[in-house]
Amino acid sequence: MLSDKELLEKAQEVSKKAYCPYSKFPVGACVLYESGNIYQGCNVENSSYGLSLCAERNAISNAIAQGETSKLLKIAIYSPKTKKCFPCGACRQWLQEFSHDINVEIILEDENSNCCSYFINDILPYSFKLV
Ligand code: THU
Repeated sequence: MLSDKELLEKAQEVSKKAYCPYSKFPVGACVLYESGNIYQGCNVENSSYGLSLCAERNAISNAIAQGETSKLLKIAIYSPKTKKCFPCGACRQWLQEFSHDINVEIILEDENSNCCSYFINDILPYSFKLV
């Protein structure tokens, strides 16, 4: 199982592959599952700006496409442009969708380049659920 620091390093690594010619704001994300498997994703933009994809959702989509069936435990998110690169509202809703009975942990890099963490239930209270 990767440590939080290692997960952030994986997020940092994939942020270098971001396709972000419009915002010039690279983001990398790395999700960790109960199986110990990890999956990375970066943001991918489009000249029709609203079609841009976030790093977090690409990482989760990657896990699903690879056939991951265990539970999502954590996500590390990194951008060289800002400390504590919190997930946008849409990505919070995606994390909630896949959190099931687990309060998914969000690992970020703080101002001192240390890991800090938040929980999805705290940063997306009263979230939308069908049932
Ligand atoms: N972005 C992400 O990848 N994740 C977020 O949670 C928020 C924003 C990307 C989208 C866009 O390519 C760039 O950051 C600037 O908004």
